[in-house]
Amino acid sequence: MSDSTPSRKRSKWDENEEEQPPVVAGPPPKRRAKHKPPPDSAESTPPPPPPNVPRPSTHSRYVPPRTHHPPILPSRSVYCYERLNQIEEGSYGVVFRARDKQTGDIVALKKLKLDEEKNGFPITALREINALMACRHENVVGVREVVVGDTLTQVFVVMDFIEHDLKSLLTLMPTPFLQSEIKTLMLQLLSAVGHCHSNWILHRDLKTSNLLMNNRGTIKVADFGLARRYGDPVGVGGMTQLVVTLWYRAPEILLGATTYSTAVDMWSVGCIFAELILKEPLFQAKGDIELLGMIFKLLGAPTSNSWPEYSTLPVAKTISLPSPQPHQFRQKFQYLTSAGIDLLMSLLTYDPERRITAEEALQHPYFIESPLPKHPDLFGSFPSAAAGEKRRKPFSPSAPARAADYKLLTEEIPDP
Ligand SMILES: Nc1ncnc2c1ncn2[C@@H]1O[C@H](COP(=O)(O)OP(=O)(O)O)[C@@H](O)[C@H]1O
Ligand SMILES: [Mg+2]
Repeated sequence: MSDSTPSRKRSKWDENEEEQPPVVAGPPPKRRAKHKPPPDSAESTPPPPPPNVPRPSTHSRYVPPRTHHPPILPSRSVYCYERLNQIEEGSYGVVFRARDKQTGDIVALKKLKLDEEKNGFPITALREINALMACRHENVVGVREVVVGDTLTQVFVVMDFIEHDLKSLLTLMPTPFLQSEIKTLMLQLLSAVGHCHSNWILHRDLKTSNLLMNNRGTIKVADFGLARRYGDPVGVGGMTQLVVTLWYRAPEILLGATTYSTAVDMWSVGCIFAELILKEPLFQAKGDIELLGMIFKLLGAPTSNSWPEYSTLPVAKTISLPSPQPHQFRQKFQYLTSAGIDLLMSLLTYDPERRITAEEALQHPYFIESPLPKHPDLFGSFPSAAAGEKRRKPFSPSAPARAADYKLLTEEIPDP
């Protein structure tokens, strides 16, 4: 009970060790921490995974053999983890730092908000878990397992713990990232987004607070709370427009398109690219109309040439366009090279059909011109707010790292 937090209303795991008969099938949580799988849940214990033998010919060759699926086991208990500190309470759940009691590994546990759920396990939670599992990649946060608390309303996703999120980091840094660093971060982001898209997943909430970064210069895309499969038939009423945090929302969504695709994520990537350069969000609007005004100002108003579909979108009929103006990219991003401007404009392109894809962006000349991407190992390490670390002196990336960056410009660069 020593580290209980009576002031906060939390689950039993958060309040710590208070015994309650578990509602979930199987023995009490503490015992389950030691014995997995539970010995007395024979009914729920699946048959052993099928041996790795060729499928009989009756099986469609288009359906993967069942050996590709993980064996279905009961979820472990959250009591397998020792709670350390709360990292953040977000829109969909609370995130804790915790320690795996068996291995000592430090992990992050995201408690999914199910408390008010009346209609069974919420689709948002299923989508989040599903998408995370489907998108395993070096630059996507690693999901380890899903654990349950005392009742079925307590479900936690266990992830690798990552020291920072890019939003907090950008706020703390006194100077923006270097171009060489931005290139490395963008390559990692594009490679993760390309991977999700090739696995038929739209993230739909890409923004700096959903990009985690460890102390080894590696980005991990997180928060698949709004992710969904694309390519499936779209239901009556279309896809929801209540996606993507306003500042990162693509113009087709703002204008009421009911079908949209991977290009919405690419618009968000463009906003993130700009934010890495400016060290603050690109479009800090209070509402849709203000945001559209800001977009029109930076890009110049859309024309039937730049975006043929524009006039067919529902909201387009209700707004009057400003008079045609040239774009303002050069004024806004004075120190960016022409290649950098070209990549940014390719991401922030009105017509979703013409907006650059993640695969194409990875091949953009911006990434092969000087300064070349910095090797992730050469990124400075920063105090982690999520781990409760405080900075001791004014925050500044270490001098050796800066020197190494300069050296990199003049030497042969290893692949990131
Ligand atoms: N694996 C993790 N390691 C460290 N911090 C994390 C991790 N996952 C999330 N966080 C922190 O918690 C915050 C909220 O998590 P997120 O998954 O984005 O939830 P929400 O859906 O509530 O926005 C993130 O912005 C980040 O600061
Ligand atoms: Mg989030």
